[in-house]
Amino acid sequence: MNSVTVSAPGKLVLFGEHAVVYGRGAIVTAMDQRVRVTIEASEQSDVSYELPNGMDDRFVRAAVEQTLVEWKQPLKGFLVRTSCAFSESFGFGSSSAVVGATVMALREWFGRKDTKEDLFKRAVTAIRFVQGKGSGIDAAAALFGKTVYFRMNGPVVEPMILSPLPLVVGYSGQKADTPSILSEIAAKMTAQPERVNRIYDAIDTIVTEVKPKLLEGDFERVGKLMDFNQEYLRDLGVSSEKLEAMIAAAKKAGAWGAKLSGAGRGDSMIAVAPEEKRRAVEQAIESVGGKVIRILHNTEGAGVEA
Ligand code: PMV
Repeated sequence: MNSVTVSAPGKLVLFGEHAVVYGRGAIVTAMDQRVRVTIEASEQSDVSYELPNGMDDRFVRAAVEQTLVEWKQPLKGFLVRTSCAFSESFGFGSSSAVVGATVMALREWFGRKDTKEDLFKRAVTAIRFVQGKGSGIDAAAALFGKTVYFRMNGPVVEPMILSPLPLVVGYSGQKADTPSILSEIAAKMTAQPERVNRIYDAIDTIVTEVKPKLLEGDFERVGKLMDFNQEYLRDLGVSSEKLEAMIAAAKKAGAWGAKLSGAGRGDSMIAVAPEEKRRAVEQAIESVGGKVIRILHNTEGAGVEA
């Protein structure tokens, strides 16, 4: 084999962010914007990397180095090239997608038999090595794809067969710093465990209720539950003025409900809206300075392309 290329999707957290880091359930969907990782033979004495300008190389390096140490393989003889179809700043989980694609590409390159579950565990280890914390939900979306109910302990990765949601996605223009938000929340958990656990239990109840509603296509109720989830995220302190403005604008224009998606304080918000209101909701988000991002969701997980 001269080369192998694997791609993996970015993700959107639909429900349950933050609470998922403390053992509660969450729902994540894979999107059509993908990261590609190619491994090819090289004469270099070490592993070399080619990344798009500005892409954080710590994730791909951690995935390669940890895998090769585990397999007792020398760190040499190939080049890893990555490319990304979406801006890292949108918060769609490009780092985890890179890690997911890299661990699968290495499996192919070395002709190993690891399952997706093995790859998932390895990906989570590499991500935590770089960023310290994290539930692994991004890696679950990158490797398993589609839409999954996820819990960290187990881990539980439960595929949900759903028809596409009438989703609108708006980027706030501000990049979220996930590791520092997670550290801040960890300090809050130490200082006020009862309060934070109460918020997380309430979010967990929302996630349990929304699962069948998503499957049935009861989007009006899904929207209401998004609103409830957002209230708890606001209470946790991870929303922002800009996200609130975008969420309020979307709802005023006719969305059934809206919430932030991911770590918060920036990145993106999501809304569910009747098809005939989509355009108005998009315009409303843009009128307060958001950028509408048209994506498909519920897409395939990591896979070999060539
Ligand atoms: O990667 P982000 O910033 O979209 O955040 C993912 C969701 C969190 O629950 C905030 C973190 C995690 O690891 O689960």
